[in-house]
Amino acid sequence: MILVTGGAGFIGANFVLDWLRSCDEPVVNLDALTYAGNLENLASLQGDARHIFVHGDICDRELIDRLLAEHQPRAIVHFAAESHVDRSIHGPGDFIRTNVNGTFTLLEAARGHWMGLDAAARAAFRFHHVSTDEVYGSLGPNDPAFSETKTYEPNSPYSASKAASDHLVRAWHHTYGLPVTTSNCSNNYGPYHFPEKLIPLMIANALAGKPLPVYGDGQQIRDWLYVTDHCSAIRAILQKGTPGEVYNVGGWNEKPNIEIVHTLCALLDELKPDAAGSYSRLITYVTDRPGHDRRYAIDARKIERELGWRPAETFETGIRKTVEWYLAHQDWVAHVQSGAYREWLDKNYAGRS
Ligand code: NAD
Ligand code: DAU
Repeated sequence: MILVTGGAGFIGANFVLDWLRSCDEPVVNLDALTYAGNLENLASLQGDARHIFVHGDICDRELIDRLLAEHQPRAIVHFAAESHVDRSIHGPGDFIRTNVNGTFTLLEAARGHWMGLDAAARAAFRFHHVSTDEVYGSLGPNDPAFSETKTYEPNSPYSASKAASDHLVRAWHHTYGLPVTTSNCSNNYGPYHFPEKLIPLMIANALAGKPLPVYGDGQQIRDWLYVTDHCSAIRAILQKGTPGEVYNVGGWNEKPNIEIVHTLCALLDELKPDAAGSYSRLITYVTDRPGHDRRYAIDARKIERELGWRPAETFETGIRKTVEWYLAHQDWVAHVQSGAYREWLDKNYAGRS
């Protein structure tokens, strides 16, 4: 079996669902159920003995030791993190705690467990760390896309905490020989994406007739990947990746934010037309994110060449599926838009002109 952390969040839940669709190997899913964790994402696994959910914190060493001893996983896939850049600007403490201290705790527990294995199990064991392209910093318009050898230049508390965790993972391999792999992926989108992030926020706001808040001039570029393509990349790394190696994962889909928002409006105009006119009437430019990175782009040639991974979705197919999913799951959106969610919207958007 495998141990997944953060498997009730956006990417982790998609990974667990995909994993159990494609094989019968059980998953122990450790998640603290912060505001971003949601057991509704895993509702289709209710009663499925292959999925063991554990409500707990990656900073809890005793709990992790117990889970490793009890379940003897052959791999750990580490998604758990505080993941939202804007929240890291308002409150960086949680990001240091979970992303840095939590990853350290997990590495130490994994090392202890791994050292107690027999030679064959030690050689087969993997610790996969799920990281982000944001650790590489911001690109100029003509810079080459991020390769695995790009220097780290994190600019937000979030990306700095992820960079710190990447360095810990690297050091645990270099110093102790722990068989780690790391993936640095670009922006994901798709089902179960929490509506604090650009794409689901714009869909939710448009359907509610609220302003679509575009930061700054809307010309910041992100490189978008449909979430199940990220999941298939992680599966490929677990199967065929080399310990100690880093793999950049991306879909070659660089788009300025304003283009994403126009695409969403056009899809909603087609799939759920509004009598008041095109949803694009709601686009509102607001004060920029402090320290906003201008451009991310991933050079995914290493994982394509060495592991034969390719994304299955184009941006056009993925974004249409995403809008259709949100239209069909308005109840899911309503449930996550709790009191705490509304407090976050007030905190993040009220101060922007
Ligand atoms: P998310 O915020 O949707 O989910 C994070 C999950 O981790 C939640 O279920 C939360 O409850 C859990 N968690 C948080 N703190 C925890 C703790 N201390 N102990 C146990 N569980 C805890 O995040 P996501 O977008 O699914 O991202 C998952 C991972 O992928 C993160 O490591 C993130 O840095 C990375 N990543 C995300 C993207 C993206 O576009 N979303 C892209 C590249 C990499
Ligand atoms: O690049 C990978 C990263 O992508 C992940 O590591 C992070 O966990 C994930 O949250 C995401 O970070 P971003 O900051 O790029 O995603 P977000 O959806 O918050 O914003 C995408 C872009 O849209 C960014 O340039 C900011 C802009 N934006 C965002 C929001 C929420 C707006 O213009 N308006 C908004 O209201």
